Amino acid sequence: MKQEVKSIEDIPGVGPAIAEKLRASGYTSVEAVAVASPTELAAAAEIGEGVAAKIINAARELADVGGFESGDVIFERRREVGKLTTCSSALDTLLGGGLETQAITEFYGEFGSGKTQIAHQLAVNAQLPRDRGGLEGSVIIIDTENTFRPERIKQMAEALDLDPMKVLRNIHVARAYNSNHQMLLVEKAQELADKLKDSEQPVRLLVIDSVTAHFRAEYPGRSSLVDRQQKINKHLHDALRFAYLNNAAVMVTNQVHARPDAFFGDPTKPIGGHVLGHTVTFRVYLRKSKGEKRIARLVDSPNLPEAEVVFAVKPEGVRD
Ligand code: GTP
Ligand code: MG
Repeated sequence: MKQEVKSIEDIPGVGPAIAEKLRASGYTSVEAVAVASPTELAAAAEIGEGVAAKIINAARELADVGGFESGDVIFERRREVGKLTTCSSALDTLLGGGLETQAITEFYGEFGSGKTQIAHQLAVNAQLPRDRGGLEGSVIIIDTENTFRPERIKQMAEALDLDPMKVLRNIHVARAYNSNHQMLLVEKAQELADKLKDSEQPVRLLVIDSVTAHFRAEYPGRSSLVDRQQKINKHLHDALRFAYLNNAAVMVTNQVHARPDAFFGDPTKPIGGHVLGHTVTFRVYLRKSKGEKRIARLVDSPNLPEAEVVFAVKPEGVRD
């Protein structure tokens, strides 16, 4: 990747006043502006959509993103895709070798199915060296249910012979108080990622646990469904942008809602349904089994077979 850091003031049409408003809304880099939509950018900078579109085009030229790309360029970028281990070889195999960077992986399932445990394990594993299935990166966690437990991280880190305090230092946790705050935190995450970009451990994993809980609580009922889906949609696109800009893995969790009216198939469906389905690259459905055993099923993946595996949540963490 070419590396010559440009600031948003370098974009033709962006003066100090617009730059300040853009930064305040989380557009901190030329790349972030380049992949924005005119509507979003117009609102953020309080300018017309026409002006916003011109700025976006200028940013695209400057950042060399957007437009058509030839297959070899895409091939190059895909070659940078990293794989993050879960510490369960069965689960890794299900995912085609682990969680991919430049993609969103969703784990959904009922309470206690292991979503938060997997999130903790990944936060540790992302810091492992590449030859142990890690990404040698830092981690950002957006915690919406106050379920982050540093003690659990410590336990998992020690089981992998890592320095637990060093591991904890490289996990940046923010509590999201409501859905708007949660969306804002993705922008804040990008600011932090920009800061750590040239450090020893750039951000390589973003966790959002849970991605849907606030939205579900704040937009109950059918009447607010469209609103809710639009917000979730934007949120996930922001997360996907984060994944691309930072060559990071994004892991989100999602609860299921019971569908007692369903006669066929599984009576549970992930919240957010199709909206998540379109943006999320990998979806894994988790079920409880006996004791520490859990069942994971890969659901509608574009290039991997639908399959089911068993893994376990043990005292040392996620394992086969
Ligand atoms: P919700 O967030 O409530 O939807 O559930 P979840 O899917 O996030 O569940 P979570 O990952 O919290 O899994 C909870 C299960 O993991 C518990 O039922 C325990 O079996 C196991 N677990 C949680 N904490 C520990 C721990 O510290 N040690 C061990 N050995 N197991 C744990
Ligand atoms: Mg949880």
